[in-house]
Amino acid sequence: TGYTTLDYGFVNTAATKSAITYIDGDQGILRYRGYPIEQVATSLSYLETAWLLIYGELPTATELSDFDERIRRHTLLHEDLKRFFDALPHNAHPMSVLSSGVSALSTYYQDSLNPHSPEDVEISTIRLLAKLPVMAAYAHKKSLGQAFLYPDNSLSFVDNFLRLNFGNLAEPYEINPVLSKALERLLILHEDHEQNASTSTVRLVGSTEANMFASISAGINALFGPLHGGANEAVLTMLAQIRDSGEGVAKFVERVKNKEAGIRLMGFGHRVYKNYDPRAKLVKESADEVLAALGVQDPLLDIAKELEEVALNDEYFVSRRLYPNVDFYTGVIYKAMGFPTRMFTVLFAIGRLPGWIAHWREMSSDPQTKIGRPQQLYLGSAARDLPPR
Ligand code: CMC
Repeated sequence: TGYTTLDYGFVNTAATKSAITYIDGDQGILRYRGYPIEQVATSLSYLETAWLLIYGELPTATELSDFDERIRRHTLLHEDLKRFFDALPHNAHPMSVLSSGVSALSTYYQDSLNPHSPEDVEISTIRLLAKLPVMAAYAHKKSLGQAFLYPDNSLSFVDNFLRLNFGNLAEPYEINPVLSKALERLLILHEDHEQNASTSTVRLVGSTEANMFASISAGINALFGPLHGGANEAVLTMLAQIRDSGEGVAKFVERVKNKEAGIRLMGFGHRVYKNYDPRAKLVKESADEVLAALGVQDPLLDIAKELEEVALNDEYFVSRRLYPNVDFYTGVIYKAMGFPTRMFTVLFAIGRLPGWIAHWREMSSDPQTKIGRPQQLYLGSAARDLPPR
């Protein structure tokens, strides 16, 4: 009944209007609230960018310091929630730990979950921004079997996060400004990307009037998949396999082209960018810089560069307009910083959080929002009677 357009993967269907992020995939343009990503990533902080995405304009100095201050005040987790991490196995994937932790936030703040209350929406925003990095670091520490640290609110957002991941109880943590700057830039590059799979998930779940924690926990699970945020982890696994197998880049690319066992060149291709991903350009620039500054030499970076070179000169990739995406070089940098591979997608989640929040708020304050409810083309049996029994 009625007219239904079949559009697998929403290649042609806009599900919403939005004023947050602009992408021109053919020209490789990305803008947050109109500002080019190249300017944002080199001039703003993570929190300034978060404010821009969430509230629509750049913050004044007072707005920014007030925002920063409120977030610092909310970094502590309920002690019971800390124990929740103890119940999970040591080898749990930190993305599963993170989504469970965010879901659990709904159980601690039951009095402030009303999506129609501006105060509830505001405090949930602050709580998420403050607590997600802490939970992410706990997921990391848990996997190492190390003690959790309490946040140190005298530190900036990024330094606090680094200390929670790499500090220990026995000695003071020394801030490495090279590391902080590089991580901040990578997080900013991930802050929003309009209607990608995880953001669309956040909006869809939110359209049912589920609370912000529940919606964002769903977004984290969507991000986990290797075709989305999980690609940064998959890239490193792929590079390590190429190194360890000794088969060489050209041979591996041949196998990708032959679609052997469905393998893809991870970190390549994008639904929207049919030209170089502007984020990948910035990340590639950072990779050399950061590795040199940290004094790390990693043969995986050489393999990545060789792969890019081979692919960009190969008809298979050229004709399909497959270029490196944001995930191609990030893993090499995260590895140099000392993060285990399994933490890479968690870092993407911290980066993407402000975007998810901005979209959830835009969705819930738009009077035209309706519950998301796609149609289908039914191809099953016509009506029939059960056999007599
Ligand atoms: N390696 C080899 N072939 C590829 C790749 C790849 N990475 N990506 C697409 N193709 C081929 C695909 O096989 C198809 O070929 P054919 O026409 O012969 O069947 C053609 O290119 C079109 O691919 P598609 O799957 O229809 O494209 P899509 O827009 O549905 O998928 C994508 C986009 C990002 C899921 C895909 O390019 C991919 O799987 N890339 C690898 C995973 C990855 O790096 N994901 C991160 C995306 S960026 C950040 C993020 O969202 O997290």
